[in-house]
Amino acid sequence: MKSFEISSEQASGVPLTIRPASAEDAGRVAAILAECFHPVEGLVGFLQPWIQASLKGELANRLRTPPAFYNCLIATVDEQLVGTIEVAMRGLPQPWWMPGFGMRDRLAYVSNLAVSNAFRRKGVARSLLIEVEHLVRRWNQATVNLHVMEHNQGALRLYRSLGYRLERSEQEWPLFGPRKLLLEKRLGS
Ligand SMILES: CC(C)(COP(=O)(O)OP(=O)(O)OC[C@H]1O[C@@H](n2cnc3c(N)ncnc32)[C@H](O)[C@@H]1OP(=O)(O)O)[C@@H](O)C(=O)NCCC(=O)NCCS
Repeated sequence: MKSFEISSEQASGVPLTIRPASAEDAGRVAAILAECFHPVEGLVGFLQPWIQASLKGELANRLRTPPAFYNCLIATVDEQLVGTIEVAMRGLPQPWWMPGFGMRDRLAYVSNLAVSNAFRRKGVARSLLIEVEHLVRRWNQATVNLHVMEHNQGALRLYRSLGYRLERSEQEWPLFGPRKLLLEKRLGS
């Protein structure tokens, strides 16, 4: 199920447009995801072009033949793509080392929320998340879930400010390593 509504709003003085992505947007969406999640720094920074190409391919496939109850939204400012988010009805991703842990049925799950560096702290992510809530309500779901790394304090603050609450804390790796938090927001009517 795909929404084709377009919303425009003023986010902190920025004229923002939010619309569903199409397959033609895959390259630009992949560029933002690579910038935000795989920056060209550190030991494996040189891999970024390959990661970006792979992300583009995966996204183009998803956007060409979107599954039911899936959407990728993009935020643009003057036609420039500045942010993206995906939401789908799906099973909860499990820690790889504990298959079946806390298995749940399909739920509305948010992933790949990313805003270009140059457009941060202008309310872009907040607007994307609010748009996702509208979509999820149209899917007749009462909750939205997402994961965030415990050390991602900026994102955590954003989610808390929108009413997300901690559902549980998960260990990425057995016994050590960073913790991943499963958050949930109950949508009012
Ligand atoms: C996290 C991210 C999506 C936030 O995007 P954004 O458009 O800058 O967020 P918003 O402007 O909508 O932020 C709204 C509120 O969230 C909080 N917030 C967002 N980023 C923050 C940060 N880096 N530090 C502290 N608070 C932050 C603030 O309360 C902010 O309101 P304020 O600016 O009035 O103080 C962006 O920093 C990003 O793409 N990060 C890399 C990818 C990532 O971590 N994605 C989330 C994965 S779970």
